[in-house]
Amino acid sequence: MAVDSPTAPAPVEPPPFRPGLEGVPATQSAICDIDGLQGLLTYRGYTVDDLVAHSSFLETAYLLIWGELPTAAELQAFEQEVQMHRRVSFRIRDMMKCFPSAGHPMDALQASAATLGLFYSHRALDNPEYIVGAVVRLLAKISTMVAAFQLIRKGQDPIQPRDDLPYAANFLYMLTEREPHPLAARIFDACLILHAEHSLNASTFSARVTASTLTDPYAVVASAVGTLAGPLHGGANEDVLAMLAEIGSADRVEPWLDQAIAQKQKIMGFGHREYKVKDPRAVILQKLAEQLFDQFGHDPLYDLARKLEDVAAERLGPKGIYPNVDFYSGLVYRKLGIPEDLFTPIFAIARTAGWLAHWKEQLGANRIYRPSQIYTGAANRDWIPLQAR
Ligand code: SDX
Repeated sequence: MAVDSPTAPAPVEPPPFRPGLEGVPATQSAICDIDGLQGLLTYRGYTVDDLVAHSSFLETAYLLIWGELPTAAELQAFEQEVQMHRRVSFRIRDMMKCFPSAGHPMDALQASAATLGLFYSHRALDNPEYIVGAVVRLLAKISTMVAAFQLIRKGQDPIQPRDDLPYAANFLYMLTEREPHPLAARIFDACLILHAEHSLNASTFSARVTASTLTDPYAVVASAVGTLAGPLHGGANEDVLAMLAEIGSADRVEPWLDQAIAQKQKIMGFGHREYKVKDPRAVILQKLAEQLFDQFGHDPLYDLARKLEDVAAERLGPKGIYPNVDFYSGLVYRKLGIPEDLFTPIFAIARTAGWLAHWKEQLGANRIYRPSQIYTGAANRDWIPLQAR
């Protein structure tokens, strides 16, 4: 029986339990804001619409991480730093050659990101140069590692980055061994901007929890990659194409959707914890898809997607369930010739900018995450000897 100590503080009523921490602020952040009712997304106060129209992925990464748009000199220096660190040690490439070629590229990326930490094991989280070094290395090498595993699993040697190509074009070159069409490179760069950051989503929350223990940034990114891999988070874009292929034709959309809803199936690429209207990123990605189709030829799956979106708006719209970022991104990547199981690793390349921004912000005002729980298990049980069980 606990005896009240004269100095014990009065018991405080715990806040109510919210599954998935829905609506519970777990941090204060100045990086990204989402207006889920208006369908607005801003990075450090700039709309993604402006950033897609006027910025590049690396300039956006700079903004997210350091908080302000860079001057021309700052941007040039940052781009050069990232370009200088694109190469990955032969040890990591050789390690990747031991990975099963049938393994999922997200598992290869998580292992490789964690391995990077072995090469930079001295931790100096209070040293600004260490912070800059880790930011540059992770941004630079994540894309090289994704491309490297793609070639290695095909039985080829990975190709070296091309220093004369900007970030997005270089990734497509390392992946496809061909210099991309300028429109393809520009649209891919826009996709990276759109996927770069999204406040406290599951993988960014993982990043902040991991960062709060003061571990190294490579472990932070590896933790976030593992979280992003799940189909309810980053993995949905792969599943959207499979879903569209399963539907097969526009006349099957309504019966397919009605059956899925009746079976309480989650429709991949739809719904969002924050957005109760169409995800602003889906709006932009849809336009990017149409630009690609105009230039490189149409994709009949797009007509299916449009039909599904229209029918779903009638059936799921009243519940605030609309297309999210994953609904059209797969169609863009497919037209760019990117294998489907690389869609989520590409999401990870982009979101590394956001994860690093949150890592840095967490270090700036750190307190280790340790939420409470409501215990629902058994209590005060007498021991039962083995022979009596
Ligand atoms: C991303 O958080 C982020 O910011 C993530 C992200 C980012 O940039 O980091 O935006 C990226 O993860 C996009 C989401 C990708 N995932 C999918 O497309 C998978 C399908 N979507 C769902 O699993 C779901 O919408 C979530 C996981 C995205 C959000 O789920 P919530 O907020 O936890 O909602 P819920 O599961 O509690 O559902 C609430 C209601 C339920 O109906 P009821 O039981 O109340 O009647 O909405 C329904 C759900 O059945 N619902 C859906 C649905 N999503 C929610 N019904 C059908 N299809 C869906 N997709």
